[in-house]
This record gives sequence, C-alpha cells and structure tokens, in this order.
Amino acid sequence: MKTQLENIYNSAKSDIENAQSVNDIEEIRLKYLSRKGEFNSIKKGLKDLSDEDKKIIGSLANKITQDLEGLLKEKYDIFYQKELNEKLEHEKIDITLSGKYISEGRVHPLTETTNEIVSIFQSLGFSVVAPELSPEVETEYYNFDMLNVPKDHPARDVQDTFYVKDMPGVVLRSQTSGAQIHVMENQKPPIKVISPGRVYRNENINARKNNFFHQIEGLYVDKGITFGDLKGVLNEFTRLYFGSARPTRFRSSFFPFTEPSAEVDVQCIMCQGNGCRTCSGTGWLEVLGCGMVHANVLRGVGIDPDVYSGFAFGMGIERLAMLKYAIDDIRLFFNNDKRFLEQF
Ligand code: DAH
Repeated sequence: MKTQLENIYNSAKSDIENAQSVNDIEEIRLKYLSRKGEFNSIKKGLKDLSDEDKKIIGSLANKITQDLEGLLKEKYDIFYQKELNEKLEHEKIDITLSGKYISEGRVHPLTETTNEIVSIFQSLGFSVVAPELSPEVETEYYNFDMLNVPKDHPARDVQDTFYVKDMPGVVLRSQTSGAQIHVMENQKPPIKVISPGRVYRNENINARKNNFFHQIEGLYVDKGITFGDLKGVLNEFTRLYFGSARPTRFRSSFFPFTEPSAEVDVQCIMCQGNGCRTCSGTGWLEVLGCGMVHANVLRGVGIDPDVYSGFAFGMGIERLAMLKYAIDDIRLFFNNDKRFLEQF
C-alpha cells in the first residue's frame, strides 16, 4: 500500500510539473484529490489494515495529500497570475479612441414657446383648460355660432375653414376661441383660464402662413372685470415675454365675440421700429387679439352680462416664437430639419 501511495504521489508530482495552465491544475486536483480521486480510493482500503499499519499508512497518506495541495496551490497561483496578465493585455481598452456620437433629442421650439407662455399666465393666476374642453375637431356651433360670428361671415367659407367631409356642421377648428364656450358651459365664474392648442385654416402655404398652426386662448370672467384689467394682464405678459425694453401698443380692432376689441402690437424686432419688409413699413407687428367678452357670448352660455364681465385674448404661438427668435419662415417649424431644431 505504501508503494501504491508513493507511485500515485510521484505520478501526481510529474503531472503537476507538466501542467501548463490553471485548467490543467484543476484537472490534476480532480484526478488525485477529489472524493472520487485516486487517493480516496486507497484511503478506503485503510479500514482493512492493522491498527499499527493504519497509523503509518494513514499519516503517510495525509502528508502526501498536504504536499500535493501545497504544490497545486503554488502552481495555481503562478498560472492564475500569468493568465490574468495575458487577458488584461489582450482586452486592454484604448480610452484615447473617440466614441460614437449619439445625437440628443430636444424640446421642439413651439413646445418650448408654449411652455414659456403658459407659465407666464400661470404666474398671473390663470390655469390651463382640460383638453376635453378644447377639441380640435369642433362643430360650427362652438367654433362660430356661440362666438357671435354671423352666418355669412367670410371666415365660415370653405376657402378659410376645413369642413369635415360628409359631416354637416363639423369643422377642424379655425381658432381656439371655442374653448371659451366649452369652459363657460362647464364652469361658473370666476373663470380665469388659458387653452393652448392647434388650429387649422385653408391657407395657401408660404413663409408666413401654414394650414395649421397653434394658438393660446385666454379668458377671465368675474364680477367687475374691466378693460383696465385686460391691459394690465397683457402688458405684463408682453413685458415678461419680450422684455421691458420692447415697446408695445394697443390698437382698436374688431372681433365678433368681443366689444370693444383691440390688437396688441410690438415694435418690429427686425428694424427696431424704423419700418421694413417684415412690418410692411409700419414699424409694428401684431401679436394678439383681445377684447371684452361680448354680451351675446355671455348670454349664450347663461351668464348674466349685467352681473358679470370678462376679457378674452388669443395669440399665435408661431408668430410669437418667430418674433422672439427672428425666424422668417413659419415652415421651418414643421419641416423637422435638425439643423434648425438643434438651434433651440
Ligand atoms: N380667435 C381670434 C383669431 O383667431 C383671436 C382672438 C381675438 C381671440 C380676440 C380672442 C379675442 O379671445 O378676444 O384671430
């Protein structure tokens, strides 16, 4: 048995000497030292020996096992370190190589402008109307009738407004003003709201006109609201949006749903008021329409015009963005040319 042990020891030692890798070492360990390995099968024979022999052979077996474990560990460490170094060398990352460029998404300039205008009015106490009170597919009733627009008003013409095919009285809204009616039908004064959204008009597309664009509608109805309140709110808006250095003016105007009506102009940003092509030589650019809500409109939704009064306004978002950023073609907002969009 002793010779058997020594033979195994010697062959294990020469196996270890010939080993080339961590893998080889693992295999040798399994072959000799695992539960199913060669030493264990010999150790099983110990029980048939005399007590005397058990001691001698047993301690020899233990010594040999310890020896082999030591040898294996020594070689293992050497191979492990060597293989790790090779791997690190091989898998080295060159951090000086330039990476792949991943372009980032951005907020669309119209969304950004809308957000800015909305937050200005929120700071003045207005809240945003729920989208279901501001539908894009609308009826003539809300888009025109309830806004005191006469049956023969030219805006109702198919030349100006998109009518939905085979659905009499249904239009793509031409203005966000219909939201005023929805809100007043659903809410009692005091009402102080804004409503941003898309509108559609049957236009020939050019640098100044697109067949859809965006507006923000505003409405403030309560007891004792005056034209002075209207001026105060809109002056504050233009001051916050364009900066206090940019002159603005109120000019009297006409809308069927307001009386009196006005338009707000800002000094032309292209020529600083000297007169140029953009402002048709006037030095001023119109930015919004507004007025005191017409008594007919209030009556139509069951609000008594002798008790309540209110003002309304509507502004084009593209127009406001074009003025602020000196953009001269409305189509740029819709072409989705990254060279344009990336500038915001
Ligand atoms: N709806 C008008 C338009 O599209 C803009 C407007 C003018 C809205 C006066 C208003 C208003 O609420 O009071 O041209």
